Amino acid sequence: MELIIKVRNSIIEFLYLNILKPIFFLIDPQIMHHKANFVGSIIGSNFIFRFINKLFFSYSNSKLIQKINGIKYNNPVGIPGGFDKNGIMIKGFESTGFGFCEIGSITALSYRGNKGRHLWRLVKLKSLVVNYGLKNEGAKKIYRRIKKKKINIPLGINVARSNRKEVSGLEDSIKDYIKTVKVFSKKAKYFCINISCPNAETGYMFLIKKNLKLLLNEIDKLKLKQPIYLKLSADLTKKEIDSIIEVSKKHNVHGFICTNLTKNRTNLNIKKHNIPKVGSLSGVLVKEKSDEVIKYIYKKTKGKYTIIGTGGIFSAKDAYQKIKYGASLVQVFTGMIYNGPQLISQINQGIVEYLEEDGYTHVNQAIGSYHN
Ligand SMILES: Cc1cc2nc3c(=O)[nH]c(=O)nc-3n(C[C@H](O)[C@H](O)[C@H](O)COP(=O)(O)O)c2cc1C
Repeated sequence: MELIIKVRNSIIEFLYLNILKPIFFLIDPQIMHHKANFVGSIIGSNFIFRFINKLFFSYSNSKLIQKINGIKYNNPVGIPGGFDKNGIMIKGFESTGFGFCEIGSITALSYRGNKGRHLWRLVKLKSLVVNYGLKNEGAKKIYRRIKKKKINIPLGINVARSNRKEVSGLEDSIKDYIKTVKVFSKKAKYFCINISCPNAETGYMFLIKKNLKLLLNEIDKLKLKQPIYLKLSADLTKKEIDSIIEVSKKHNVHGFICTNLTKNRTNLNIKKHNIPKVGSLSGVLVKEKSDEVIKYIYKKTKGKYTIIGTGGIFSAKDAYQKIKYGASLVQVFTGMIYNGPQLISQINQGIVEYLEEDGYTHVNQAIGSYHN
């Protein structure tokens, strides 16, 4: 069976890299993102499409099943916030073999996105430049769309502060987060509190210790059953990470999603690669930073917090590395654009092979093993 799946994945990979991707990459990335969401929603919309999709993409292995903060994951590979901002593709993700999916970022008020272009490809650098600025249809509309859906993989709700003039100041911002959390309190399996949107005005407001305390105080008051994970910026200093950990210890925080995009353009040949001045970077350009944050937090907290590793995963090796650094789960976005949707299955199968090579019988034995 393992061999059949490997051959299946190689065929799909070949078709993606040689036929589909060259066509997709002729299309403007923003339009392509929109089309991918549309196709994903169609695939997820009926039983037959989902069944066929599963035949193409599924992979399961008991070595990958984990229970984390009370939630069962059939495999550790998920989709992070940003791909499906409005919750239209959840069933599509499910049948593509993802172990979990996170939708959003969702904000209490809808937002049409920042002025100008939102997305660029940096093909040679295997990265994307993103400047959506928390575009989404708003919490209530998205909730109405998903409330009746039977979702068979854990659903993370990525919550951010509305990027709108109406929401100004600290008090309003906190209320705004709370509104969205309340809307999804019956549907979310976990909440990702995004305190790191690099493209939103005041996106880093909750890096200030006092502000983060106040936000987490209000979330504590909700007495949520779900775990809370804070999504961190890739550009944090160790001092800033220490301060976030210190505050988190006193509140109902179960872990960290490491990391969001990077704004850092130092050492990049901006002219040669035609990198726009606005926006933030994903993929290869964020990988090292994300790895450093994972390693640092795992070591600093002695593995007490759940870490979801995201940033620059293009292969099973990249994912397994993040697991060894301390991530219990990983998320893949840019890698899937560049390498194809079979990557999810390839990563899962590859992780199992790495586990065997290292003499482990289950993925949880590999988590944080780099530090031993
Ligand atoms: C097009 C795009 C949109 C994104 N939008 C969001 C978002 O709304 N909220 C968020 O928390 N992260 C967002 N992200 C960041 C991703 O969730 C992820 O943290 C980052 O891209 C690193 O992973 P990758 O290298 O696999 O893409 C976005 C990323 C991309 C590429």
